[in-house]
Amino acid sequence: MITATFLALVGATIVSAGTYDYLCDEKNYDNYVTLYTHPKDCSKYVQCWKNALGALESDERQCGFGTYWSMTDLSCINVDQAKCGEDACLSLIDGEQRAAKGNCRGYWQCMGKKSVPMCCPPGQHYNSINGCEDNINEECTADCLGQYVAPNDTDSGNSTTTEAPILCNKEEEANSPSSYKWNVNGQSYLMKCPSGTVFVQTKCTCLGSETAPRTCEPELLLKFTNGLLDESRNQIDVQNVSVLVENGEAIFDGTTSQLVVPFYSNLDIKNTLIVRMKYTSDHTEIPDGEQRALFSNLDCNVDPSILMTENSQNVVAFVGTWVKNGTVAVPQTPLAANEIVSEKDVMYKFQNNTLSLTVDTTENDVPTLGQLKKIQCALHIGYASGMANFKGKIDEFAVYQCDPQA
Ligand SMILES: *[C@@H]1O[C@H](CO)[C@@H](O)[C@H](O)[C@H]1NC(C)=O
Ligand SMILES: *[C@@H]1O[C@H](CO)[C@@H](O)[C@H](O)[C@H]1NC(C)=O
Ligand SMILES: *[C@@H]1O[C@H](CO)[C@@H](O)[C@H](O)[C@H]1NC(C)=O
Ligand SMILES: *[C@@H]1O[C@H](CO)[C@@H](O)[C@H](O)[C@H]1NC(C)=O
Ligand SMILES: *[C@@H]1O[C@H](CO)[C@@H](O)[C@H](O)[C@H]1NC(C)=O
Repeated sequence: MITATFLALVGATIVSAGTYDYLCDEKNYDNYVTLYTHPKDCSKYVQCWKNALGALESDERQCGFGTYWSMTDLSCINVDQAKCGEDACLSLIDGEQRAAKGNCRGYWQCMGKKSVPMCCPPGQHYNSINGCEDNINEECTADCLGQYVAPNDTDSGNSTTTEAPILCNKEEEANSPSSYKWNVNGQSYLMKCPSGTVFVQTKCTCLGSETAPRTCEPELLLKFTNGLLDESRNQIDVQNVSVLVENGEAIFDGTTSQLVVPFYSNLDIKNTLIVRMKYTSDHTEIPDGEQRALFSNLDCNVDPSILMTENSQNVVAFVGTWVKNGTVAVPQTPLAANEIVSEKDVMYKFQNNTLSLTVDTTENDVPTLGQLKKIQCALHIGYASGMANFKGKIDEFAVYQCDPQA
């Protein structure tokens, strides 16, 4: 199975370098955002990289034939599933054709103001003047993933169309039906399907057998009993900036400490996101007017979709959606007389158009509307741009995309 990422990242050729350097952003780069939509051509994308001097440069890359770049998927996907604002056929009449780049059998044909990928039959190649014509010397033997339409010719009136295969940036794992390889951003991650489901290549997703009971397991589970290892089935990569792990706790110094989880950049979270965080801190020492970040995806010059902070009075949660954001606060539990820090069990829950925040036993809700905004920014634990870092110890940090209490 040829995956979209294979086409995008291995099959891709550098078209030209340098022109789109302005798209490359240092902050984004640090957040693993290195790929961008090409401003002029849907079948290309822009990749940023750091040169030996540490300066960001851009290369233009060409998607495989029959695919367009999708910022949502961070790869080239089948044109049928992609949006293209700059389709070359917008100003052309139906039936107009042009040669494909990177495939000698391929060509694009305009249909209803859209470019449709087509392939000459095996044994032929596409010629810009004559259209499909027979190979003279086996000069074109390419596989072609476009929609195959046999050309009309004199001895046969047959016209056949076969469906283009779904392009997919996930690959099944030979000996483990409940795992798959997820190819994103030029890297390959071994992922586990949710329990009770198996990976189905033809659908490019994990699907459940109807009878298997579905339990809600955390997608990310940090207990800090084994360093920064994610103890969920997913083994998500967690990166460390000055966080010490001792006795089952992650210690944040309040100045530079943070944990970065690139997995959550650009993640498509629709309706349910739950973050449970058990931590200790001394909120009484937080100066008036200061917010300390508990977690966020606020670090890449765009408004965040998730943010939780604490100040001397409250724990505050924010959700950014496409329609109506929500902010909700719960008062800090006062320190007991003999305590210097307090233990907090906090639940951030975005579900059913509601943002609810629970601190120990107190829950407050606020209505929101719309899906969680997709942000090209990693999840940062203990950090949000423009705020003070978290100071304290985290005992457990878990992320769910389902409701463990349901
Ligand atoms: C084949 O011929 C028919 C009728 O002449 C026409 O409608 C159709 O568009 C042709 N197909 C191609 C691929 O040229
Ligand atoms: C055209 O179609 C007929 C039946 O519809 C089939 O028998 C024949 O093999 C086809 N010819 C070609 C060249 O595909
Ligand atoms: C995180 O990095 C710091 C150095 O910045 C190091 O001292 C610490 O041990 C690391 N923590 C873990 C859990 O690896
Ligand atoms: C949501 O909040 C952000 C600030 O973080 C703001 O820029 C945006 O306009 C808000 N959106 C809505 C729909 O209120
Ligand atoms: C969320 O809404 C769905 C239907 O809209 C309902 O079945 C479900 O029980 C709700 N969940 C919670 C936690 O309110």
